[in-house]
Amino acid sequence: MAADLSVEVNGMHFENPFVLGSGPPGTNARVIAKSFDLGWGGVVIKTISLDASKVINTAPRYGKLRSRESNEVIGFENIELISDRPFEVWLEELAELKRRYPNKMLIASIMEEYDRSAWQQIVERTQATGVDAFELNLSCPHGLPERKMGMAMGEDPDLVEEVVGWVKEVSAIPVWAKMTPNVGHIALPAGAAIRAGADGISAINTILSVIAINLDTLRPQPTVEGHTVPGGYSGQAVRPIALRHIMEIARAYPDVPISGMGGIFTGDDAAEFFLMGSHTVQVCTGAMLRGYKVISELKQELAAFMDKHSFEHISDFIGKSLPYFTTHADLVERQRIARAGGGGRGNQDAETWKGEIDQETDALTTN
Ligand SMILES: Cc1cc2nc3c(=O)[nH]c(=O)nc-3n(C[C@H](O)[C@H](O)[C@H](O)COP(=O)(O)O)c2cc1C
Repeated sequence: MAADLSVEVNGMHFENPFVLGSGPPGTNARVIAKSFDLGWGGVVIKTISLDASKVINTAPRYGKLRSRESNEVIGFENIELISDRPFEVWLEELAELKRRYPNKMLIASIMEEYDRSAWQQIVERTQATGVDAFELNLSCPHGLPERKMGMAMGEDPDLVEEVVGWVKEVSAIPVWAKMTPNVGHIALPAGAAIRAGADGISAINTILSVIAINLDTLRPQPTVEGHTVPGGYSGQAVRPIALRHIMEIARAYPDVPISGMGGIFTGDDAAEFFLMGSHTVQVCTGAMLRGYKVISELKQELAAFMDKHSFEHISDFIGKSLPYFTTHADLVERQRIARAGGGGRGNQDAETWKGEIDQETDALTTN
C-alpha cells in the first residue's frame, strides 16, 4: 500500500482519517478501546453533559428505511439522547483511555445548557483527563432542544458565537463545532463558530425526520406508547445532503479543517468527503450497521482510490472537486461554447439540448 493515510489536523496526528462519530459506537471505554485496537484513527465519544440524571431515553428509539429492491437499510432514524452515563465515570474512563492509547485521537463531544459557567466547567474538568480535542454538540435535533440545547443553539448563529466564545476562553485544546444540517445556509452558523475561534467544523449531525407511519396502527415510528417525536435521520440516504453542506462550508472557509460525516459506509464514500474539503471523516451509522471491523475495509478502499489517482497523501486531494461548482448560468454558457466549438451545431444548440433533455425525461418515465 503506497498511500499514506495519516493526517495532521490542528496539531493532532491521526494515523488514519477515519474517526468514529459521536453516538452508540463511542458509548463507553470498553467499546472505544476495541475500536482503537481494530485500527480506527480516532473516536468522538458519545456526547456527555455534567448532569446525566436529566437524560432519560425511551425504547424503542430507532427506526429504519429499507431499500424496496434489496431490503438493505438505507436510512436510519434515532430519537436517542446524549449519554446517560455519569460524568464522573466518563472522566475516569477518558483518563484511562488516554493512558492506554496515547497515539489515538480521543475527542470529547460535550453539550451543556445555555449557561457560561456550565460550559466552562465541563471544558475544564474534561480537558484535565488529557483528551485531544473537543467537539461541541450544537446540533442534536431532538429531545435536547426542549432544554434549549443542541440544535436550539446550533441553528442560531448568535448563540453559536457566544457559546463557542465561552468554550474558547478556557479550552487549552482544539475545539470543533458540530453543525446541524437543519438550516438553510450552514455557512452562517459555521462562520459564527469560526469568528468565535473554533479550530474546526464538524458536519453534519442528523436531519430532522419522520421515518415512517405504520399503516395498520396509523402510528408514526418509532412508537413509544403509541406516540413519537420527529428524530434524527442518518445513514446512506443522507450522504448527498451531507456532501452539499460540506461543500458550502469548505467554499466559504477554505482554511478551516472540516470533519465530514453523513452516510459514509465505504472508503469511496469517504473519498467523496475529502474531495469536498473534509480533512477527517466520521462514521457513525455505518459502524453501527456494518460493525467496528469495517475499518480495515475502509482503509483498503481509500488507499486503492489514492493509488488509482497516484495520490500519496490525503492532503493531495482535499477539496479537489470544489472548483467544479459554479452557477447554472455558467453551465449554460459552458455548454453553449462547447457545442458551438466541438459539434459544429452552432445556433441550433438550444433546440438540440431540448431534444436531449426530453430524451432523458422519456427514459425515466417509461422505465
Ligand atoms: C443512534 C445515534 C445516536 C447519535 N448520538 C449522537 C450524539 O450523542 N452526539 C452527536 O453529536 N451526534 C450523535 N449522532 C449523530 C452522528 O454522530 C452523525 O452526526 C450522524 O448520524 C451522521 O453520520 P452517519 O450517517 O455516519 O451516522 C447520533 C447518531 C445516531 C444514529
